[in-house]
Amino acid sequence: NEQKPTIFTIFGGTGDLAARKLIPALYNLFLDGYMPKEFTIVGLGRTEYNDESYKEVLLDGLNKYSRSGVADPAKWGEFSSNIIYLQSDASKEKTYKDLEQIIADRDEQWAEAATVIHYLSVAPQFFPVISEYISKIKMAGGKEKCRIVIEKPFGRDLETAKELNELLQSLFDESQIYRIDHYLGKETVQNMMAFRFANALFEPIWNRNFIEHVQISVTEDIGIEDRGGYYDGSGALRDMLQNHILQVLCLVAMEPPVSFNADEVRNRRVDVLKAIRRFGPEEVKHNAVRGQYAGGWVGGKEVNGYREEKGVDPNSNTETFCAFKFFIDNWRWQNVPFYVRTGKRMHQKSSVISIQFKDVPHPIFPSHASENWQQNRLIISIQPEMSIRLQVQAKRPGLDMILNPVDMVFDYDGTYPKESPEAYETLLLDAMEGDQTLFMRGDQVEAAWELLMPVIDNWEGRKSLNFPNYPADSWGPEIAEALIAKDGFHWFTMP
Ligand code: BG6
Repeated sequence: NEQKPTIFTIFGGTGDLAARKLIPALYNLFLDGYMPKEFTIVGLGRTEYNDESYKEVLLDGLNKYSRSGVADPAKWGEFSSNIIYLQSDASKEKTYKDLEQIIADRDEQWAEAATVIHYLSVAPQFFPVISEYISKIKMAGGKEKCRIVIEKPFGRDLETAKELNELLQSLFDESQIYRIDHYLGKETVQNMMAFRFANALFEPIWNRNFIEHVQISVTEDIGIEDRGGYYDGSGALRDMLQNHILQVLCLVAMEPPVSFNADEVRNRRVDVLKAIRRFGPEEVKHNAVRGQYAGGWVGGKEVNGYREEKGVDPNSNTETFCAFKFFIDNWRWQNVPFYVRTGKRMHQKSSVISIQFKDVPHPIFPSHASENWQQNRLIISIQPEMSIRLQVQAKRPGLDMILNPVDMVFDYDGTYPKESPEAYETLLLDAMEGDQTLFMRGDQVEAAWELLMPVIDNWEGRKSLNFPNYPADSWGPEIAEALIAKDGFHWFTMP
């Protein structure tokens, strides 16, 4: 393809994300012809590897996690000839001198200044030192050719996020900073914009006059796996809600942008965050709930409760589940509740958006009152099923006028048999092409933290909790059911 020569450095190159997501994504881009003709991937880490042993580890990961399955030896050989390992300490100047040399060698070999993308897949305490050093590496190609990708968590509260933004923005231009939220790269999440703004049908009814309520539910069946050390200092609010769920909510609720330009789209997304009603103590009490999983049986196997997980404080009050009711104070959404929930060790892995429309203004069918009656609903299933379903009432064949809800379905697998790219493929390609539309701008991250700070402060001040409060393999704590049931609704679950 047309792309410029590119150097991709991965800080945290021996970590889990590199093996599970980053290398498989780059490899699949390569298979699909999206990698530039000239590229180099530099994995950085402290572990002692040489290029060959490093590549073996990556190949292992690829064979386990790549959507394209076990790597074809010839293709892998060709791809991996572009990978090198730099055993290094990210806090030492020497690392960056070495990197500078690698970049200079490549520039000379390719007779062109490469685009350099630095991917920071490291613990957040390393963000400052790495970004300071990177900003000093001589950039033959100028600022627009050097980009920095920052993995989450982007701060752990408003103050730390601001500090990090200030630091990054003092070293780089905002156009060089790519704050990644992998949910924005998911095919079904991207489609939200296409669906809303490329169809004349939905926009006129996408508002308080027609929509009764919205749900965004991201449930996972896994526990925290071996991430206790990280997760216990984080919790569901910071791990999932502050970033992934709020970003999805922004896509559902945003105003139409004037164009598909990165800043236009991001302006409209941040508008949503600014319009979400703030939480005072009363709202925290009534509109935000949290939970933590107990042990139990999952698929015939006994699993630990959260407090028994490795790396977790046995008295931990960290939430593994949270549910919120939001209101968006603008013309479009006045008084339309947005319910969101996310949790670990729940009954099903499923990310789904459900948009329930108001009932018809006047019932004429006897079956209107029956249990079978379902107001129109639009179900956007992000994963694992990738589909959009519009639920409508239709007459059941027969002599009586009996109505039933039926689904009009757009199902990705049926329509597009070729597998969709993974979120990281989309996002890494965008970073290579310099497109920031699906990345978070500094003000968005801060707006999300700002919104949640009253809840975080309140929760952290109230430690005596009835945890654990939901069993493994359940739909979360009862208080989450109550949160939505008191408004007369129920959480939607995929059949
Ligand atoms: C990550 C969280 O950002 O997203 C994890 O840190 C979570 O805790 C994961 O499991 C979920 O991502 P996905 O793509 O599997 O829905």
